[in-house]
Amino acid sequence: MDVLWKLTVYLTLVLNVLSSIDSSVMGAATGRHWKWSDINSSPENNDDHLVKALPGQPEVEFKHYAGHVTVDENNGRALFYWFYEAMTLPQEKPLVLWLNGGDKILYVSGPGCSSVGYGATQEIGPFLVDTDGRGLKFNSFSWNKEANMLFLESPIGVGFSYSNTSTDYNNLGDNFTANDAYTFLHKWFLKFPSYKTRTFYIAGESYAGKYVPELAELIHDKNKDPSLYIPLKGILLGNPETSNAEDWSGMVDYAWSHAVVSDETHKTITRSCDFNSTNPWSNDACSDAVGEVLKQYKEIDIYSLYTSVCISNSLNWNDNPTQVMMKQSSKMMPRIMGGFDPCLDDYAKTFYNRLDVQKALHVSDGIKLRNWSICNNTIFDRWSDSAITVLPIYSKLIQAGLRIWVYSGDTDGRVPVLSTRYSLNALGLPITKSWRPWYHEKQVSGWYQEYAGLTFATFRGAGHAVPCFKPSESLALFSAFLFGQSLPSMRSA
Ligand SMILES: *[C@@H]1O[C@H](CO)[C@@H](O)[C@H](O)[C@H]1NC(C)=O
Ligand SMILES: *[C@@H]1O[C@H](CO)[C@@H](O)[C@H](O)[C@H]1NC(C)=O
Ligand SMILES: *[C@@H]1O[C@H](CO)[C@@H](O)[C@H](O)[C@H]1NC(C)=O
Ligand SMILES: *[C@@H]1O[C@H](CO)[C@@H](O)[C@H](O)[C@H]1NC(C)=O
Ligand SMILES: *[C@@H]1O[C@H](CO)[C@@H](O)[C@H](O)[C@H]1NC(C)=O
Repeated sequence: MDVLWKLTVYLTLVLNVLSSIDSSVMGAATGRHWKWSDINSSPENNDDHLVKALPGQPEVEFKHYAGHVTVDENNGRALFYWFYEAMTLPQEKPLVLWLNGGDKILYVSGPGCSSVGYGATQEIGPFLVDTDGRGLKFNSFSWNKEANMLFLESPIGVGFSYSNTSTDYNNLGDNFTANDAYTFLHKWFLKFPSYKTRTFYIAGESYAGKYVPELAELIHDKNKDPSLYIPLKGILLGNPETSNAEDWSGMVDYAWSHAVVSDETHKTITRSCDFNSTNPWSNDACSDAVGEVLKQYKEIDIYSLYTSVCISNSLNWNDNPTQVMMKQSSKMMPRIMGGFDPCLDDYAKTFYNRLDVQKALHVSDGIKLRNWSICNNTIFDRWSDSAITVLPIYSKLIQAGLRIWVYSGDTDGRVPVLSTRYSLNALGLPITKSWRPWYHEKQVSGWYQEYAGLTFATFRGAGHAVPCFKPSESLALFSAFLFGQSLPSMRSA
């Protein structure tokens, strides 16, 4: 009995060791999505991108890498990434790609903002821009506690990402963005081959509500070819733009229910706006009434209703009249400056436009400065295609068994919790766990509901970029997402 027991333990250990080797090297090599040639042609081929002396960086134990990856050699098109290994046991943790959309540009809607400027250095990365713009401070709630985090500046024209062929900018759109991000991933795996077989997730917020499902769908479709297989397991979306009609309708209802506009304005909207039509703004009554909503939001931070605006950026506040912008761009939503420390964007700009910083991140030779800005306002004008709704993609991904989680900061007026609820209702998924609070450190962090194939959670008192407002709670949700666990629905003892 005793001997048998020991033998069993021993065998279990051996099997465990074998299976861990198996998944990291051997099994991968024999598995359907790995070729020996990958190892031979490119053993971890990324020393040139290791970030060593980033000015003002707090000292850390983990490695991080940054640089350009060429996605089109003929045209000279390259995307910039910043990759942080997990703080501990990076070889055992999943890989997560984070994408930002086009948050926070004043009255210029659509995509065009930097995942480095927002996600990495204001929200969930390990180094946050310090308020003096000179350095970085350590973020103890960084998501690289739980995963290897890859931040991509996408598409070209955003941050340090560029093309040497100016006509490339004429093709900007959802499809182009997804294709380039997809090529980027494969090229990136050549530099980081050990990640090619790693469990993979995509996360993002705002306009990335469109990018993330689109990229996930592309990966899912291309995965039919075993040589292209990427082990995508799920997507995580925060205050995501999802379906134009539902997004607009939620936005105006939210403005009314949060005392931003009058009953009369809201009634006019209800009566005259057809957000499902291809051009809702051709109706003047609708256009004027929605203009009134945006006019009120221009005075406050639409992204965080109850915080102050950044007055040092007040130049931006007298931009184009709302209505003009809306008529030009009927398919996308207008934006207004905002955030937690509403001036953080300025600090980030100062930091990333330093020559020594650019040199450390491998985007400059240390002589010629690149022009970095947090959002590129001209990108929207050239945006050629934007999905009206990504809900059919949700359905497809759910069918394919991918994990989908959607969260929503409930003080965001831009892609408010109502928009997300309208969209999810339109999906018509069966509810598997009814609406209930979820707890973090004995407090109600928000509410959540589980559907067959999808989890929806709110963050109580958080604005658009949730992790800026609720860093500890966000990390807890991220962790639950990665482990596929329900959020804690009991106040812990
Ligand atoms: C773009 O052009 C510059 C200057 O010729 C060159 O150094 C760079 O490598 C090119 N980028 C790509 C991705 O080919
Ligand atoms: C998206 O891009 C791919 C690759 O360039 C192309 O084959 C496809 O037709 C495009 N789809 C749309 C809807 O434009
Ligand atoms: C848009 O049209 C769809 C399909 O007819 C409908 O289910 C949905 O409620 C409409 N949304 C809005 C906001 O009008
Ligand atoms: C940098 O870009 C901004 C706008 O994106 C522009 O106003 C400025 O002139 C540019 N500066 C340089 C040195 O190119
Ligand atoms: C902004 O995007 C446009 C294309 O829409 C591009 O021509 C320009 O170079 C970009 N600006 C910066 C500062 O990268």
